[in-house]
Amino acid sequence: MTNNQRPATIGILGCGLMGAGIAQVSAAAGYKTIVREVDQGFLEKGLGRIRKFLDDGVAKGKVTSEARETTLGNLSGTTDVAAMKECALIVEAIIENVDEKRRTYAALEPVISERTIIVSNTSSLCITELAASTKRPDRFAGLHFFNPVPLMKLVEVIRALTTTDDTYQRVFAFASSLGKEPITAPDRPGFIVNRLLVPYLLDAIRAYENGLGTLEDIDKGMKLGCGYPMGPFTLLDFVGLDTTYFIANIMFDEFREPAYAPPPLLKRMVLAGRLGRKSGQGFYKYA
Ligand code: CAA
Repeated sequence: MTNNQRPATIGILGCGLMGAGIAQVSAAAGYKTIVREVDQGFLEKGLGRIRKFLDDGVAKGKVTSEARETTLGNLSGTTDVAAMKECALIVEAIIENVDEKRRTYAALEPVISERTIIVSNTSSLCITELAASTKRPDRFAGLHFFNPVPLMKLVEVIRALTTTDDTYQRVFAFASSLGKEPITAPDRPGFIVNRLLVPYLLDAIRAYENGLGTLEDIDKGMKLGCGYPMGPFTLLDFVGLDTTYFIANIMFDEFREPAYAPPPLLKRMVLAGRLGRKSGQGFYKYA
């Protein structure tokens, strides 16, 4: 960290949907940002996603050309974990698999400083378990962003049982410096937002299965009746049915409450490959 506690260089592990968004907001906030993917193809795809978002932002008059150039100038990509050497804070946003994450931390820790803080963007895995799988459980925390990262203001900051106050404060300050609104969330499955959002989405599927209404009418009801930006089925397709299923299972395993049990239709849609927007079909079809 620099004297004023602002980390000089930020590392992002993973340049998928979330990693790319986090890399973009980090670079846009003025941090030198290094994003690492496992292969060049994934890296190019992720960096392309960032360029497109910025180009669209310029076209919509939401991003200036100068801000676009500055953001891209602060950003670099690599497939080499050793490039993370100079990073003071590293955000891990790789796939939601404890073993994969553990392997990634094990490859990372020998090349980074003792003082470097690692945070995970996991939406559902146990932060204390991830922290315990590193050699720095005191310099580890959860930092959970929301999709689409550049537009969603919220970030959840989660401390493991082992996270020190100093680490927590630095991570919280980092989230604020990105222009986000951080909140403190507990290390329990779903943290705050998914703890409330996932049962609502599962309930919508159960209600649909029980004939409450058409997909379109339920969506319209919640959108226009409650002012939600998306109805539950549009949001499920947006988040990904596999992601929702994965989170629901973790929540159900931990709490054993029916509210978190994935409905039969959700399981079958995942098995059929109807994962939402990303697969071209979920509750709705996408061209
Ligand atoms: N660059 C900069 N700004 C952009 C932009 C870009 N490329 N693209 C859009 N914007 C701006 C727009 O100009 C607009 O700004 P104003 O409000 O000032 O007009 C704003 O962003 C919204 O964009 P759009 O009008 O194009 O789209 P929209 O109004 O339909 O909103 C949305 C899109 C923000 C995604 C909105 O539908 C929404 O909030 N949906 C809910 C998303 C959500 O719930 N996400 C959380 C999912 S859960 C999760 O992520 C956690 C997990 O663990 C699963």
